[in-house]
Amino acid sequence: MNKIAFFGLGYVGLTTAVAMASRGFKVIGYDVDKAKVASLKAGKLTVYEPGLSETFKEALKNIRFTSEANEAVNEADTIFITVGTPSKPDGSIDLSNVIFASRQIGEGLDGYKLVVVKSTVLPGTTMGVVRREIESASNKKCCRDFGLAVNPEFLREGSALEDTLKPDRIIIGEADKASGDQLEELWRGFLNGYEVPIVRTTPENAELIKYANNAFLAIKVTFANMFARLCMKIPGADIDTVMKGIGLDKRIGPYFLNAGMSWGGSCFPKDLKAIVKFAQEKGVRLGLVEEALRINSKGPEDVVQIAESLIGSLKAKVVCVLGVTFKPDTDDVRESPSFYLVDELKARGAKVKCYDPKASAFPSGCEINKSPKECINGSDLVILVTEWNEFKYLNPEDFLSMKSPVVIDTRRILNKRAFEEKGIKLVQLGVGV
Ligand code: UGA
Repeated sequence: MNKIAFFGLGYVGLTTAVAMASRGFKVIGYDVDKAKVASLKAGKLTVYEPGLSETFKEALKNIRFTSEANEAVNEADTIFITVGTPSKPDGSIDLSNVIFASRQIGEGLDGYKLVVVKSTVLPGTTMGVVRREIESASNKKCCRDFGLAVNPEFLREGSALEDTLKPDRIIIGEADKASGDQLEELWRGFLNGYEVPIVRTTPENAELIKYANNAFLAIKVTFANMFARLCMKIPGADIDTVMKGIGLDKRIGPYFLNAGMSWGGSCFPKDLKAIVKFAQEKGVRLGLVEEALRINSKGPEDVVQIAESLIGSLKAKVVCVLGVTFKPDTDDVRESPSFYLVDELKARGAKVKCYDPKASAFPSGCEINKSPKECINGSDLVILVTEWNEFKYLNPEDFLSMKSPVVIDTRRILNKRAFEEKGIKLVQLGVGV
């Protein structure tokens, strides 16, 4: 049976490793971060994902962690590169982790293995720098002494495990047929009869599919966000009904039309910036993607403007921000819109309080509260940003401890009528007033 190594144990590497181990595959997880490996060895997960800790417990017998790269390479038949590919300050992609992992794999290669790039990398990276690094560090030849493939990841944080166990499709970009065959067989074994399309193609197409996918989804959400702003100017209009109406058109589909202040996370912002920069270098303008990034970066400012229209100057006002993760059901705050919102509020002299049930970090210069009620208490304005489930159960009574209750609900999860009956001003992003 295959033994599978994962180089990089972030959300993607760890979730995929745990999912594979839970299906009976022998897995070895490697990470340069020794503290992370120590924690995982002690049975403590390093990311928060719904359902992952239960599956992790079941999978423990099939999974082992190491901070020795050689050990991971030597034991495995298939090695997944799942390290991060963050943005550089100019928006271009930082490949240093991918290059380092490729070199480590090359140095450890002691026989034929399949190397699979799962990290998000620009077209040409796998057959370019990844292949070169492995070949030069190993003195071996791609497609003869080792296999190489690209296998982009589409899991979402917050539903990472579910997405891995039941993917929409598997994309395989293969350096040669043998590499594609080995990877397809691995996935078919993992999926165990669960039927999904498996697309076999060139490494470059596979790399580009990942970027095009994230760009399309981000544009789709931006579209909803843009129309949400228009709805607010039309009494009687609401964005959820408008998006439901268009989502029923099969050509559009109902997903990724939930409007909010703006989108964030570790993927959309960095991937959109990277593909824009990449295209620019090729002399092509991805105007639509650039515009989505521009519209998105204005989201927090739009909400601050709504705030000012409701309570006037924000100077010395106390503002409660509910939700600082970039979406619910994750502890991840990377590129979280709430952080940008807090910056905007502080720049206008507001005093900001924040609450989040799971956030791994909070914006600097804000008061961190332990419950929504503590956060709401004594504030001049509440802005609900992240649609955590627990916020849906907040009652108008919970807001009566505000100085003079005014609430902005950017996700339309509070009951407007119930709030108004209690004399609370509730403005919902995307609802005409
Ligand atoms: C995204 C993609 O959805 C995954 O397919 C991909 O694998 C991943 O990036 C990646 O490249 O690694 P993720 O960033 O975890 O996944 O989360 P999403 O669910 O896509 O949400 C991204 C942002 O869009 C969040 O801020 C979320 O609140 C926002 N969003 C999403 C909306 O505002 N409305 C929606 O309808 C959907």
